[in-house]
Amino acid sequence: MRICILGAGGLGSVFGALLARQGTDITLIARPAHVAVINENGLQLTGIRGEHTIKQNLTAVADARDAEGEFDCLMLGVKSTDTTTALAGANCLRDRVAVALSFQNNIIKETQLGDWLGDASKVIGFSTFEGGMLEGPGRVNNNMTLETSSYIGELDGSPSNRVNTLADRFNQAGIATRVMDNIQQVMWEKLTQIANAAGWSVSCEIGNADLTFADAMVLREGAEHYLAVAREVLTVYKAMGYTPQNFYAPVSKLKELDSLDDDAAIATITAIGQAMLDSGYRSRTSLHDDILAGKKTEIDYILKPFVDKAAALGLAVPTVTACYRIIKVLDHYLK
Ligand SMILES: NC(=O)c1ccc[n+]([C@@H]2O[C@H](COP(=O)([O-])OP(=O)(O)OC[C@H]3O[C@@H](n4cnc5c(N)ncnc54)[C@H](OP(=O)(O)O)[C@@H]3O)[C@@H](O)[C@H]2O)c1
Repeated sequence: MRICILGAGGLGSVFGALLARQGTDITLIARPAHVAVINENGLQLTGIRGEHTIKQNLTAVADARDAEGEFDCLMLGVKSTDTTTALAGANCLRDRVAVALSFQNNIIKETQLGDWLGDASKVIGFSTFEGGMLEGPGRVNNNMTLETSSYIGELDGSPSNRVNTLADRFNQAGIATRVMDNIQQVMWEKLTQIANAAGWSVSCEIGNADLTFADAMVLREGAEHYLAVAREVLTVYKAMGYTPQNFYAPVSKLKELDSLDDDAAIATITAIGQAMLDSGYRSRTSLHDDILAGKKTEIDYILKPFVDKAAALGLAVPTVTACYRIIKVLDHYLK
């Protein structure tokens, strides 16, 4: 199997490293500095799966025109804000890609890939909680995985060999992947979780660059604000006909937040924050990290869908709307 990863940064490099290590022929399209070090020394994978240097089955190029041959799958790994430019730069690959999927946290990625390919039937749905962060050129940290870290499925829910084949390949590479007949729900629930965490943390922690999830969760007001955002994104999610499933358990607590009364939910959030503090787990969403790094964010792809859906469905989401507005202002002055 040959897979091309377009925009191999944090997450794309983790998938590329794990799949190449397992024996899949991987082509990474990435920034020149990353490509140069990979071609010189191999790709270094650090983090929860230990230290590995991957050289076999791995080709890295800085320009899509240098990616040779046919690909069984193209995986889109750029940030949502870079999709249009990245796909335009990869037009030479369009007729050489059998199937495409995207890592991104947004709900328009499949439409964008279908438009680019000129054939929506070549696109499959995908969602992942694997974590990846570039530590420097040629070096990526795999900082998160779960018992089921990834989901894959046909957009219409039908069974297919191509989905099963990719899932088998990911599982063989150690990326625990489940085939779903409701991948659209998984993608919306992931967005619900991310919108909750990102909207909440940026709006209450952005003045202090040292703060991570736990620092606000253990405060009564921080937990109350978390719950206010959760209640609203869940209202939108449920109004679309979905019931929370905690696909990304144990990290996801959407089922609990949905079913508990306010006091019990706040106690749950506070306990999660305390457990993070006790274990030394210090993390933020990538949207929050992007702001701290002075980079444009994925705000219009992560929070805006909830503001728009709420408006379309006649639902009031004042806290989510306030978070969206605050982050839009911050984002406006970033490059
Ligand atoms: N990282 C995670 O743990 C994680 C988990 C789940 C979902 N996601 C989602 O997955 C997507 C990717 O996230 P990420 O954290 O991997 O982002 P990332 O580290 O920024 O990786 C994207 C990479 O693509 C590069 N790039 C942009 N345009 C390019 C082009 N035209 N050609 C070649 N390379 C290009 C970027 O370079 P520059 O930085 O120089 O622009 C960057 O190195 C996001 O939508 C994110 O929300 C991430």
